[in-house]
Amino acid sequence: MTTAETTPPPTIRREDYRPPAFLVDSVELHLALHPGATRVTASLTMRRNPAAAPAADLELDGEALTLISSALDGAPLEPGRLARLPGGGLRIAGVPDAFTLRTEVEISPEANSELSGLYLSGGNYFTQCEAEGFRRITFFPDRPDVMARYTTTIEAERAACPVLLSNGNPDGAGELPDGRHWARWVDPHPKPSYLFAVVAGDLVAARDSFTTQSGRDVALAIYVRRGDEDACGHAMDSLKRSMKWDEDTYGLEYDLDVFNIAAVSDFNMGAMENKGLNVFNTKYILARPETATDTDYEGIETVVAHEYFHNWTGNRVTCRDWFQLSLKEGLTVFRDQHFSADQGSAAVKRLSDVRRLRAAQFPEDAGPMAHPVRPDSYVEINNFYTATVYQKGAEVVRMMRALIGEAAFRRGMDLYIQRHDNQAVTIEDFAQAMQDASGVDLSRFRRWYGQAGTPELRVRDAFDPASGRYTLTLSQSTPPTPGQPEKLPVPIPVRMGLIGADGAELPGAGVLLLEEAEQDFTFDGLASRPVPSLLRGFSAPVRLSGLSLEQLGFLAAHDSDPFVRWDSGQQYAVAEMLRMVQEFRAQKPLALPEGLASNISALLDGAADDPAFAAEALVLPSEDFVADQMDTADPEAVHAVRQFLRASLGTRFMARFAALHDELRDAGPYRTDGISTGRRALRNTALSYIGRAEGGDGIARAARQFETGGNMTDVLSALRVLADSDAPERETALAAFHARWRGDDLVLDKWFTIQAISSREDTLRVVEDLLQHRDFDLRNPNRVRALVGAFAAGNPARFHTASGEGYRFLADSVIALDAVNTQVAARMVGPLAQWKRQDAARGAIMREELRRILARPGLSKGTYEKVSKGLAA
Ligand code: TRP
Ligand code: ZN
Repeated sequence: MTTAETTPPPTIRREDYRPPAFLVDSVELHLALHPGATRVTASLTMRRNPAAAPAADLELDGEALTLISSALDGAPLEPGRLARLPGGGLRIAGVPDAFTLRTEVEISPEANSELSGLYLSGGNYFTQCEAEGFRRITFFPDRPDVMARYTTTIEAERAACPVLLSNGNPDGAGELPDGRHWARWVDPHPKPSYLFAVVAGDLVAARDSFTTQSGRDVALAIYVRRGDEDACGHAMDSLKRSMKWDEDTYGLEYDLDVFNIAAVSDFNMGAMENKGLNVFNTKYILARPETATDTDYEGIETVVAHEYFHNWTGNRVTCRDWFQLSLKEGLTVFRDQHFSADQGSAAVKRLSDVRRLRAAQFPEDAGPMAHPVRPDSYVEINNFYTATVYQKGAEVVRMMRALIGEAAFRRGMDLYIQRHDNQAVTIEDFAQAMQDASGVDLSRFRRWYGQAGTPELRVRDAFDPASGRYTLTLSQSTPPTPGQPEKLPVPIPVRMGLIGADGAELPGAGVLLLEEAEQDFTFDGLASRPVPSLLRGFSAPVRLSGLSLEQLGFLAAHDSDPFVRWDSGQQYAVAEMLRMVQEFRAQKPLALPEGLASNISALLDGAADDPAFAAEALVLPSEDFVADQMDTADPEAVHAVRQFLRASLGTRFMARFAALHDELRDAGPYRTDGISTGRRALRNTALSYIGRAEGGDGIARAARQFETGGNMTDVLSALRVLADSDAPERETALAAFHARWRGDDLVLDKWFTIQAISSREDTLRVVEDLLQHRDFDLRNPNRVRALVGAFAAGNPARFHTASGEGYRFLADSVIALDAVNTQVAARMVGPLAQWKRQDAARGAIMREELRRILARPGLSKGTYEKVSKGLAA
């Protein structure tokens, strides 16, 4: 995992793909679990791949494995036929065409802080094999195009590990001497090694069942630590709704007798779709009204669905190589977004998906790590589990569906699965299935997979009153990205409509397909100049420009499409904020723009009709989103302007915000339906404005809500207001929160985050102190993300403090983390690598800090890749 100082780690290229020289038909695994020394015995039934170039020797991946013994077809292998490969793999000289290889290795779960392979968390055993963790369990051709049938036997001490789980269906269990026991699992479906999993420990199950459309009963279980069984209801309910939705929407049925989920508090990401045994970060399973926010509840629903949907898009049909990652991730995000949209308000779900895409993916696509949805090369594959592969990949699938239509898309999915079931395939295979099922030529559309960068879509229009003809001129260009200086036009579906001066929708709505660099679209028979409503539902992941402030204000007030209404309001606010940033820099006094105030007033007028939408629309664009529209960011100025606007809007509309805050109080038990969460969101948006208002009673309201709030959404919103303030209530509330929740990891994470994202000027100092807090733990990724990640990625004003101390803090954290968990360390580098966005002075310090990281001996290849690419840009 670590590299020698002098040799840069190799780059893996998509064009170098070669089929595997050997295939594995079946795997018999035996794991004898011990914390410090686990024995893994693997019997692999192997044969030469007829489709590959002949190879004399067999090469297997391996990492951090101690080889105990090995045998080929029952005969021990003499040391002369074995060689260790540089990364820790194994080469076996001169193997026959078909054979059985048996290896026995020792590994140490206890010493595994990387959380890849087999590791311990709270005394229980978990595995994480995607992308390349299986090689840390046994020697194996650890690549997704080697699919095998697995039988797994686990043995462990019964008292410490009453529960023994693996993939597939249970197939026997029994007692052993010395207080040990065993269980065997058989997975009938061939799978790549990254989907292997074992979970063992003292866990308890929340149970339920599901009857599939063909009438088979599936036993469902969610395994958690004792005491958490009562916090699995929402996850279980989400699972059953996902199973039903996939049957109803795609005819896809579950294919084993059991579906198990295990939750773990030490986990590198959100969750993992191992066949029949999903492993989840506890953050995406456990929820009680008093501990989880509405956002947490939404996250659980989405992630449970996402992992379940992988059973077909990812597991039954998998990826040929890791360059095809979006084949499973983009498609599965598309599916989970569609599912969640179907559960409640599709419009509000779309706004939050787009907000996320713009917050994470657009900057990535404009930064030093920019890469296509299907990357061409990587150094460390873990660095490519990105917003581009996931979120932009989902947008590409969404556009494809818009182009060929819903019915053809469903036929395309059927064809894709029928053609490729139990195969490891490419993005090209997916596009081909969609093309064949629809008869639509998608050859140009495939550019979306190969070209990085966010296209810029510009609009001009002209109206000829004499003929009644309206002409829309749409043009596109994509800025250069590292390694891709020249860009081609991509087909952009622009869903649109025309709005008359009275605010009424005119004929002519539809989808314009912009395929060239520039095209005219004409509309006849119009009495007066319309306002164009473009990119309805955010029909393509592009940046739109060319509308006037006046047109944006008009659309925000009148458009029938909720996305355009919301986005036009946001773009209007961005335009005003950018103007104010210039005034602030020129040391002119700031004033509340009346146009913006009247937009907010109109939103407040309509708030009762759709509280969830109003809550989204009332929130000002984030500081990052505004800074992202500037040639050179100015975090201090943007922060000052946004805080000024929050305060002056809060002051101007104090009475109306206070009325909302009073009226929308939850009555009755906590519910997570769209209406209830929308009401809470609006109420807490109101509270946040009152909290900034001059002469308001925001602190008193927040303190009261903090003390009496019946759910975590309300309590945390109140604490957020207090944590941003200088009021004495701040310290009391933070101390009370810590005292109440110190035993609950997930709630304690919120306590760290709320302090890390505080707008107070002393936040960096507070964060540095929290790093030394007894509850902080560098080995727990959730805690690291809650403090270090939240500060660096969620508090631009304080992270970018002109002294550079924020940068030094992050670099120190990355260096410390790289020795503990390289995946998490590499993921923290991002904010430092965006130095080009900052002014020269900040940029110089950021580069200095990147160089300091790079100079560390033994840096992991993942961190090396992020830092060196960050510096090169
Ligand atoms: N495949 C997982 C998902 O998106 C994510 C994943 C990839 C992951 N690598 C991981 C999860 C490492 C945990 C640890 O559904
Ligand atoms: Zn996924």
